[in-house]
Amino acid sequence: MIVGNGGTVRDPFSMDALLENLQSLPTLPEVAMKVLQKTSDPDAGIKDLEELMSNDPSLTAKVLRVANSSYYGLSRQVSTLKMALVVLGLEETARIIRAITFLNAFPSIRVGGQFDYSSFWLHCITVAEVVRGLATRLKIREYSESLTGALLHDMGHLVLASFFEEDFVDMVTLADEKQLSWLDAEQEVLGFDHPRIGAILCKRWNLPETIHHVVRYHHAPIEAEKHFPSVYLGYLANRITAHYGVYVARETNSTTLAADPVWEGLSRYIPHTPFKPEDLIAASKQEIELGAELHQQLLQ
Ligand SMILES: [Fe+2]
Ligand SMILES: [Fe+2]
Repeated sequence: MIVGNGGTVRDPFSMDALLENLQSLPTLPEVAMKVLQKTSDPDAGIKDLEELMSNDPSLTAKVLRVANSSYYGLSRQVSTLKMALVVLGLEETARIIRAITFLNAFPSIRVGGQFDYSSFWLHCITVAEVVRGLATRLKIREYSESLTGALLHDMGHLVLASFFEEDFVDMVTLADEKQLSWLDAEQEVLGFDHPRIGAILCKRWNLPETIHHVVRYHHAPIEAEKHFPSVYLGYLANRITAHYGVYVARETNSTTLAADPVWEGLSRYIPHTPFKPEDLIAASKQEIELGAELHQQLLQ
């Protein structure tokens, strides 16, 4: 039994009860689902995406606002989706659409007062930026699913704060009292954790398996059985982002990145890495700043 914050005694959560409650989780709008499918289809083109988006003028308007923001620093005004697709490219435009879609699925109004919604998204958006920076520097070509996974990796926190507020408050209280990470406090209060909840959400949204894995193993990449480079990339970006103080909750990490087995593990998939971990941490400062800029545009 769990003694709650206000002294109430409740039965511990069972996984079954959670899954039942998750039936009320938001679904993604139809247009967004189709956009997600189209953007992972190598045969899809600009015209396909343009056609789909013509059904959602409000999403298109938001995409144009971000495309015209200082984040992209374009020299000319982008006034149509077609122009955005041509100037930014299909993948980059799709990335903006995905970010807006995920943000819209969990509006801030739903979240309890204990949860810092803005800081949460700053962290997630920045981890995705850092994934991109790492992938570029390490010459990893296939990183788009790792990037989406990074954007979603901590969604389990948002689900808890939105739908299980009492448990969320108990968890935060316990973490503060015992100086635990949220991950450990979740296990103690709920018997499961936010990576697991996040992975359930990804399945519900029919996202590709690589994305589930990035989310599910973002604190324990060594436990993953496949999709290693993507999972490792997500994990490293999360660590580097936290290193810059951009985190949802302080995480306990006793090893340096250089001594982290994941760093060593990554070299099996990306040979001849010319970078040392400290170089990558220093270089990621650029993405930390970009993350803050994009966050400001997306949450406006
Ligand atoms: Fe996390
Ligand atoms: Fe995180």
